[in-house]
Amino acid sequence: MKLGEAHNLILHEKNLTIKNGQSDNTWYFFHNHIYGAAEIAKVIADLAQMNTKRAYFCALLHDIGKIREQKEQRFHGVIGYEMLKDKDEHIACACLVHSFPFNQLEDFTHIQKALFNKINDYQMLSDFINKHPLDDYDLLVQLADGLANAYGLVSIEERVEEYAHRHGIEIPFSMLYALNELKKYFDKKIGCDIYTLFSRIKNKNVFIPVLDDFQKAAG
Ligand SMILES: [Fe+2]
Repeated sequence: MKLGEAHNLILHEKNLTIKNGQSDNTWYFFHNHIYGAAEIAKVIADLAQMNTKRAYFCALLHDIGKIREQKEQRFHGVIGYEMLKDKDEHIACACLVHSFPFNQLEDFTHIQKALFNKINDYQMLSDFINKHPLDDYDLLVQLADGLANAYGLVSIEERVEEYAHRHGIEIPFSMLYALNELKKYFDKKIGCDIYTLFSRIKNKNVFIPVLDDFQKAAG
């Protein structure tokens, strides 16, 4: 995947938000969250000696199905997977599993609402998760997703609380626990605490995505 191609896919989603009559806030949150997650994933991947480009793209596009979710009434991870599976298998997989830290798929009755009651999507996810060996890129996207909100990097607790409030749902404790385990996994991999690492980076723009610049670049 090339950067221009990824930007075009995102721009297409921007046009969809306008077409769907969704608020500017929807786009603002979406844009900043994905670019923030991508920057976070890139920094961690670099220190973990992973492929930074792959980490960046997987994180950047992990929510690509989100804008269509309400309208299609389907889980955005599955929509993203379907959008990207023929373009890039790694990114498509990251989309599909990104909401389930360490592939912990809750019972259907617990996540029914998030899946718009689509038992087929649940079955597909469940089968995939059972067969798909999780790799560090999937895990890194899950972590980056759990650390990035519309304003940059926040703690896992802040992110989960905000997410639960915004969507009017309760996040199971097992999810919070799993996200913290993910952070510990990468703390160990890079040899330092991720919160400390990011607090030491002076250029805060590394976390704050550049909406204005992006809009300028996009014309
Ligand atoms: Fe996300």
